Amino acid sequence: MRAALFYFSGTGNTWRTANLYAARLQRSGWGTEVVAVESALRSGLMPDRDCLGVGFPVYAFGPPRVVDRFLHMLPSGKGRLAFVWAVAGGIVGGATAIVCDRLEAYGYRVVHERAYVVPENVHWSWSKPAVAARAKERAWSRIEGLVARAADELAAGRVRRARPGHVRRGLMSGGMWRWYMRSGAHAGRYIGVTAACRPCGLCAAACPTSAMPSIPLEHRVGSECTFCLRCASICPRQAVTVRLLPGITSILHRHLEPGYGDDVPKAMSMASERRT
Ligand SMILES: Cc1cc2nc3c(=O)[nH]c(=O)nc-3n(C[C@H](O)[C@H](O)[C@H](O)COP(=O)(O)O)c2cc1C
Ligand code: SF4
Ligand code: SF4
Repeated sequence: MRAALFYFSGTGNTWRTANLYAARLQRSGWGTEVVAVESALRSGLMPDRDCLGVGFPVYAFGPPRVVDRFLHMLPSGKGRLAFVWAVAGGIVGGATAIVCDRLEAYGYRVVHERAYVVPENVHWSWSKPAVAARAKERAWSRIEGLVARAADELAAGRVRRARPGHVRRGLMSGGMWRWYMRSGAHAGRYIGVTAACRPCGLCAAACPTSAMPSIPLEHRVGSECTFCLRCASICPRQAVTVRLLPGITSILHRHLEPGYGDDVPKAMSMASERRT
């Protein structure tokens, strides 16, 4: 079996799970290719494989806007296998169901659906960084076991689907997610840059949607912003801020998942190479 695992990851958690899935499926003899959604969107290239995996972080009880755009460009599934997984900070709502419904509408046969609750990389925490990092790694060793089990089920052909009720599907994902999907026009209200910025261009290069301007102090974040907070997590000067309410700038811990920073520029340069 050959599988293409498409993932979107703002700060690296979903990227980490994508690589865990790929490594475990390879142990079962699968050929796997892990592709960042933004690379596929920029290049327009879609590897033709027997099985499609889609992984994403939960935003407002649904998939990120950039994942929604990616789903729109998928070719017809013609009965091909698909699996879906989501990574959340706490409450998944009907996020995986939204993506499964879309894949099924395009003719994919979704056989496996899972969600993982993982410690966030952008958060409020009073713990010392070393203590928080140890707690996080403990959580990850549990997630690694869960992903391994999911990949083994997938390889063994076991079907696992979630059936969210009306509250999760309708109220949460219907209301909050629709609001999030429309909120791009106000991105500049929520993502800001302080005077600590020395325009190094890193956040703009890493932005998956090209919404971050290369001189962020002079221009606003564009409406394509998917609110992934990668810019806030990658900035070496912690100059990108997240405003949750107008006028209130939050004090958050923000960092990328270890190792993800090496992969982000690679994904971006791959995308531009394929474009040219
Ligand atoms: C804009 C936004 C909305 C979010 N909404 C939710 C949510 O509804 N439920 C939840 O459990 N986590 C939510 N989260 C937390 C992310 O799902 C979580 O941080 C995840 O680990 C991010 O994955 P990544 O590192 O791959 O980007 C949200 C995060 C962001 C940035
Ligand atoms: S990464 Fe930080 S310092 Fe560099 S341009 Fe962006 S906001 Fe400014
Ligand atoms: S501007 Fe920042 S939060 Fe918005 S899409 Fe780009 S990297 Fe993500």
